[in-house]
Amino acid sequence: MAPEERADAARLLRGFERRFLAARALRSFPWQSLEEKLRDSSGSEVLLDILQKTVKHPLCVKHPPSVNYVRSFLSELIRKHEAAHTEPSDELYQALAEVLTAEEPTHCHRSYLLPSGDSVTLCESTAIVSHGTTGLVTWNAALYLAEWAMENPEVFAHRTALELGSGAGLTGLAICKSCRPSAYIFSDCHSRVLEQLRGNVLLNGFSLAPGMDAWAQHPGPRTPKAERPQVTVARLDWDTVTAPQLAAFQPDVVLAADVLYCPETVLSLVGVLRKLSTCQKDQRAPDAYIAFTIRNPETCQLLTTELGRAGIPWEEVPRHDQKLFPYEEHSEMAILKLTL
Ligand SMILES: C[S@@+](CC[C@H](N)C(=O)[O-])C[C@H]1O[C@@H](n2cnc3c(N)ncnc32)[C@H](O)[C@@H]1O
Repeated sequence: MAPEERADAARLLRGFERRFLAARALRSFPWQSLEEKLRDSSGSEVLLDILQKTVKHPLCVKHPPSVNYVRSFLSELIRKHEAAHTEPSDELYQALAEVLTAEEPTHCHRSYLLPSGDSVTLCESTAIVSHGTTGLVTWNAALYLAEWAMENPEVFAHRTALELGSGAGLTGLAICKSCRPSAYIFSDCHSRVLEQLRGNVLLNGFSLAPGMDAWAQHPGPRTPKAERPQVTVARLDWDTVTAPQLAAFQPDVVLAADVLYCPETVLSLVGVLRKLSTCQKDQRAPDAYIAFTIRNPETCQLLTTELGRAGIPWEEVPRHDQKLFPYEEHSEMAILKLTL
């Protein structure tokens, strides 16, 4: 195979691997490139390579994705194979047979590959909204914020980060694995979300430090440089948390992803940011970064108006170039840096 062809094949495999591990919509896969490859080659090696990088991937074998998703993916792969070849593929049929009668669990795994070669694996709900919360799945802004953080690790290195509305935990786990924070406090207000979040922290090899109350009584000690961060999962409701409770976390940096989905959450969020602006550490308030998908211009407008009313200046962070995660190209996202 010529070097250029080899590079194309590797790109195709990577495209399938990243999307499949993160269980992205099947329509987002590079099917057209696969069809071209199948037209040009007599054998079905490329499909077997794809099988190894997806359904048979060690991460998927250890932490299985949704059964329905695997079934739909394999059916599509078989269709592509049959459109190009007359001989059926035993390997593809065998893989499909293995999941054909399996039941769909309420939770599945999604994995996200990091540039270091490491990965973040999350147990997530198979439904976008379940148990009355949106926090049991990963949203695009969480991926976008994690990408930006990995391009700007100095924002987190040897510092204490407090995340609001952490949901499944993708942003924080990517930061903990790539940006060397000394301490990372995940937080949310929903019991199911907190339970899943704790599980995801453990699943990724971190151990859990005590929650908010214990932290307030015994803050730190912080881990020395170059060691793993001290990780906490805290119940923190923006509407009821007090400024002294927030100050006890001693955050240097505050972040949140996809927490602006209705006017009420915007008001609650600005309320907690206002309380955080009174939390001084080394005579300065924490830096804050809020990432969101621009779904509704009025909600964004409400955010900037409320920030203005609270006296919190903001600026938009320039778009980063590196797209590491397979979210949809068309979703428009932004990160605001706030001066609390
Ligand atoms: C759309 S999810 C985003 C989760 C995650 N940051 C992500 O982007 O994948 C919004 C999260 O904010 C949390 N949330 C909403 N209102 C909250 C409040 N008043 N206090 C704390 N967390 C809240 C929800 O429980 C949920 O986990």
